[in-house]
Amino acid sequence: MKQEIMEIALKRSIFIPSNELYSPTGGFYDYGYVGKALKRKLEDFWRKFFLKRDGYLEIESVYILPEVVLKASGHLSCFGDPVVECTKCKKKFRADHLLEEKTSGGFHDKRWEGMKPEQLTNELKQRNLKCPECGGALGEVGWFNLMFKTNIGPIEGTTGYLRPETAQGIFLNFQRIFRSHGSKLPIGIAQIGKSFRNEISPRQGLVRLREFSQMELEYFFNPNSPTHPKFKEVENEKFRVYTREEQKKGSERCVELTARESVEKKIVPNEIMAYFMAREMQFYTKLGIPYDALRFRHMLPEETPHYSGGNIDLEVKVSSGWVEVIGNAYRTDYDLRSHSKASGKDLSVLLEDGSKIIPHVVEPSFGVDRTLLCVLEHCYRKGGGAERRDWEWFDFPAFLSPFEVAVLPLMKKDGLDGKASEVAERLREEGFDVFYDETGSIGKRYARQDEIGTPYCVTVDYQTLKDETVTVRFRNDGKQAREEIQKLPEKLWLFIKGNKLCL
Ligand code: GAP
Repeated sequence: MKQEIMEIALKRSIFIPSNELYSPTGGFYDYGYVGKALKRKLEDFWRKFFLKRDGYLEIESVYILPEVVLKASGHLSCFGDPVVECTKCKKKFRADHLLEEKTSGGFHDKRWEGMKPEQLTNELKQRNLKCPECGGALGEVGWFNLMFKTNIGPIEGTTGYLRPETAQGIFLNFQRIFRSHGSKLPIGIAQIGKSFRNEISPRQGLVRLREFSQMELEYFFNPNSPTHPKFKEVENEKFRVYTREEQKKGSERCVELTARESVEKKIVPNEIMAYFMAREMQFYTKLGIPYDALRFRHMLPEETPHYSGGNIDLEVKVSSGWVEVIGNAYRTDYDLRSHSKASGKDLSVLLEDGSKIIPHVVEPSFGVDRTLLCVLEHCYRKGGGAERRDWEWFDFPAFLSPFEVAVLPLMKKDGLDGKASEVAERLREEGFDVFYDETGSIGKRYARQDEIGTPYCVTVDYQTLKDETVTVRFRNDGKQAREEIQKLPEKLWLFIKGNKLCL
C-alpha cells in the first residue's frame, strides 16, 4: 500500500490497524468515521447499481456455520493454502507467496498457486530459499485450512466456523426465497457482509485481511438458457482480458474484447457472466478507476476453486501491482447439489414445462476493502487548485465522498458560527451528509476537507449576515462562487447527482 495513503488514512480516520494500543495482530483493520462513511456509500452504490436496477434481492445470513454445512460445500477439505514453517524462529509463511516474492520478484506471478505441498517443498529446496525473517532453514510444506474454528454452545458443543464467504448463506436460504418470490428463474440473491479467513500471511493493508467485507451476488438460472435478459444492452461494451496464453508467456499484454466476443471466443463461459463483467467495468470506472487500470484475468486451471465451471477475476492496477477485486465464478449447480445431497432435502425447482432441475449459478463476488483501497489510490491527488495548495486531497466522485458538503463559519464570533450552524442544520434536514467545522484558520479547514475528499465547502462570512448568501468552494480547483442560501440545497443536489465536477 502506498505510504502516503497509509499516513493520510491514519491522520484522517479512514482506517486504523485494529487493537492499535497493543501490538496489532496482522490482517485486521478498523474503519474510522470517514472510512466507515466511504464504505457505506460504496456498499449503497453497489446496491443501487447492481441490485435495484435489475431487481435482485438482498438477504442477511449468520456469520457462524456448523461444520456439516462447510463439509457439504467442500470448504472443510479444499479451502486452504500451503504453509511452511521456519525450523529456527518458527514463523509461518505461505509457501507459494515466498516463491513468488523471492524468485519472480512479483507479487502477481501465479505460477505457484495450485501446486501440491510436495512440489512446493521441492521448489523451495531447489532454490535454497531460507526464512525471510531470520535466514533459518525452512521445513516441509504443509496444508493449512483457512477457516476460523469455534465451538457452538458450551464445551461439548458442535464445531462451527466463521463463514469464509457470504455465499453459503444464500445457498442455504435459496429454496425459501425462491418460493416466496414466485418460484421463477432467473433470480438474483445478494448479500453484503463480513467473511473470515485465517490468512497465513496477511499483507498490503486492506488487500489480504483476516476479517473483510464482501458484496456477493448469486444469479440462479436455468442451465438450458444460460443468457441474461439485459445482455443485449452491453454486448458491444469493451473490456481488457488477460488471457491464459499471455499469462503463460509471462507477458503483461491484454486483448480488448467486447462482451459478445469474450463469449464467442469461449473465454467467458456464458452471456450471464459477460453481462456482469460489462457492468463491473461501468461500476469501477464510475468509482474513478481508469479503464486502462482494469483487466479481467482468466484464471489458470490450477487456480480455479473446487466448485468452478469457469473463473475470471477483475484486477485493478495499484502502486504495488495488480490486485484482484472481484472473483467471477460459474459455480454450476455445485452448491445446491452438494447441500441437497448432504441434507437429504430436494433443492431442485419445478419449471413451467413440468420438468425439474437444479438451477445453475453465476457469481460475481466483490471485495469491499480491496475496492476501497483501489479507490483511495486512484483518487489520491497532490497540489494544484486556485490557492496553489501544497496539501494532499482525494478526488472522489461526489456520490462516494464521505461528506458531501462542509459548512464553515469564517470566524467563530460575531454571530457567524450561529448562522453557519443554521445553514448546516438546514442542509442536514435536506438529506446531505454535512461536516460542520469551526476550529482553526479557514485555510486549514479547507485543507482538512480536501484531505477527506469533501467536494463542496460552504463558508458563512460577514456578507452572509447582510444578504443571505454564502461562498461555495469546489474541491478540485479551489474556485469559489457566491450562492443564495435559499438555492443551496437544489444546486448541491444537482452537482452531486450529476456528479458535476465544477460549479
Ligand atoms: N464466494 C466466492 C469468493 O469468496 P474469492 O475470490 O475467494 O471468492 C472474492 O473472494 C473477493 O473477496 C476477492 O476478489 C477479494 O476482493 C475479496 N477477498 C478475498 N479474500 C480476501 C482477503 N483475505 N482480504 C480482503 N479481501 C479478500
